[in-house]
Amino acid sequence: MFSAIFTAETAAHPGAEPQLMLANPVLIVGPLNPLATSGLSAATRTLHLPEGSDQAAFLECHAGEIEALVLARAVDVPLVDRFPRLRIIANFGVGYDNLPTLHCASRGIIVTHTPHVLTDDVADTAIALMLMAVRRFGAAERYLRAGRWSAEGMFPLTGSLKGRTLGVLGLGRIGRAVARRAEGFGLPIAYHDIAPAPDLSYTFHASARELAKAVDILIAVLPGGPGTLRMVDAGVFEALGPDGIFVNVGRGTAVDQPALIAALQSGTIAGAGLDVYESEPGVPQALLDMEHVVLLPHVASGSHATREAMSRLVVDNITAFFTTGKALTPVPETPNPA
Ligand code: NAP
Ligand code: 8YV
Repeated sequence: MFSAIFTAETAAHPGAEPQLMLANPVLIVGPLNPLATSGLSAATRTLHLPEGSDQAAFLECHAGEIEALVLARAVDVPLVDRFPRLRIIANFGVGYDNLPTLHCASRGIIVTHTPHVLTDDVADTAIALMLMAVRRFGAAERYLRAGRWSAEGMFPLTGSLKGRTLGVLGLGRIGRAVARRAEGFGLPIAYHDIAPAPDLSYTFHASARELAKAVDILIAVLPGGPGTLRMVDAGVFEALGPDGIFVNVGRGTAVDQPALIAALQSGTIAGAGLDVYESEPGVPQALLDMEHVVLLPHVASGSHATREAMSRLVVDNITAFFTTGKALTPVPETPNPA
């Protein structure tokens, strides 16, 4: 029902009457995907928070009327508290370490995110990074493009998935999708999570280190935030060992990045495939300099189809909340009122 407001037809007719006219505008914070922006604009009045020197005057004028934020960047408590009538924050992404959720909960503000719709693309990216890191396909392509195949002969032999065991760190929606894909490769699967998953037969390990010790390839799909801060540390890399491959598609803050760099430089682990970093978009020169690391610029959910689905879910959350009083995908910390 709520998707109807975000049809190609309404997006293609920006002059059409908005179908959900709120008394107050929805405020877009950060560089939101154009599909989400046009979907919101088709549904109701929108404003964009200016960055820089215009922001203070904008807030002075509009903060008092805002009941809904749509986020495409991080916000902190002082910014959230500029909006005394705020009722909902819709985050463009499933991870919500970019906003103070517990503070929102204490103010009765509902926070929504975009689970499920991006799971497949992110799991595919984890598998791609695993294959690229194990088989060194990025380095092999660079070798060919540099004319070294004809000049120097075959690219050196690489590791293989044969005989390897996979560890998934964070067996949530995406972690499970990674594990399902890995079953197709014939990889034995183990995992660590806050608690064992009784519905699955994969081997549970009680800590990240114990998991790393038991596997050859470790794929992290952890959320960010204080609960996972630098959880993948030097001890985990030590346990993973000199043939070990580390892949991260969760959050860069869950990894002790200097320890990862040191482990790669010293041969404590064999290689890595990364989509996320400690302080994006910054990527340390030491990582850029290493041939045995595959680096992606946080693109795991960046397909047309997934970004469209994320956009639709952001718009549908806002629409559902203001028409029914219940959001579609609130985060666990801010559930819908019973
Ligand atoms: P999810 O279903 O919540 O999965 C996260 C899993 O990690 C849950 O099973 C969770 O357990 C577990 N976990 C949380 N804290 C832990 C800890 N301290 N120790 C061990 N396990 C812990 O979320 P998802 O949809 O799979 O997404 C996972 C994360 O991937 C997101 O939060 C986001 O940061 C990242 N992500 C990245 C991209 C990208 O573009 N690279 C795209 C989408 C998502 P509980 O459920 O018990 O808390
Ligand atoms: C980004 C992600 O949100 O959903 C998440 O948690 O990390 C990604 O999907 C997306 O790249 C938008 O910035």
